Amino acid sequence: MKKYLVIGNPINHSLSPELHNYWIKKNNINGNYDKEKLEDKDLDKFILRFRNKEIDGANVTVPFKKKIISNLDKLSPEAEITQSVNTIYLKDDKIIGENTDVIGFELAIKEIKFQITGKKVFIIGAGGVVPSLIYALNKMKPSKIIISNRTKNKTEALKDLFKYLIVVDWKEIPEFDVVINATSVGLNNDEELGLDFSKIGKDKFFYDIIYNPNKTNFLKAGEKLGNKTENGKRMFIHQAAQAFKIWHGIEPEIDQNVVRLLEK
Ligand code: ATR
Repeated sequence: MKKYLVIGNPINHSLSPELHNYWIKKNNINGNYDKEKLEDKDLDKFILRFRNKEIDGANVTVPFKKKIISNLDKLSPEAEITQSVNTIYLKDDKIIGENTDVIGFELAIKEIKFQITGKKVFIIGAGGVVPSLIYALNKMKPSKIIISNRTKNKTEALKDLFKYLIVVDWKEIPEFDVVINATSVGLNNDEELGLDFSKIGKDKFFYDIIYNPNKTNFLKAGEKLGNKTENGKRMFIHQAAQAFKIWHGIEPEIDQNVVRLLEK
């Protein structure tokens, strides 16, 4: 039986096992997908299990998307540019790091037919998924990408990777057309970013990377002000589907059961 897993810390909240095991079963694959909480010191041992073929594929989540890179043999162009890996696999005895967050976000935006070209995009947060968002967004040719993070030096590190970023101070709200919450604030229902969007005007697009809960306070605030909103569910499903395709050579179907699996 083939073995797949997602590693991270914390990992309890991850719905990747539900999604992958559903597709594994539906496609009659003899395999299982599990989740494992690791500490930094466990990474070497984890990679050894990979080399010994005890694991056939893995997803990598916070806080290991960058940390894992020094343990890998080769990176895909997207993983290299973003310095972020969310999918790994073994090919010709080499451990390859891929990034399917980039295409996951691109497909999610394409699916809802939202036009980023020419728009001002404001990203809040500088965590693990943000380099992938920036890279994917930049390909869609926005007029600007502005970023703000509570801990400012993290945005400076991102600016080293993506020179075109405009950094603003925490709590400053620049003029924008699209605002993305890429922080972990909202994973617990009652959490608030504490930002004031009351003066931003109409016809904005509020996007949250979080998909569980379905509607964070950030999205509720956007909705209340009469704006379009979207959560991170489609991105999550698409990044998972692309990882599935890499490991199994099959593009899994995104049916109604998949969407329902993520609604618990
Ligand atoms: P990591 O930072 O380990 O990559 P992440 O979940 O990908 O983890 O990122 C967490 C993001 O949420 C960060 O941008 C973090 O801001 P800091 O860099 O200042 O820590 C942000 N975040 C978490 N709690 C926050 C809070 N209460 N207010 C504002 N931002 C917060």
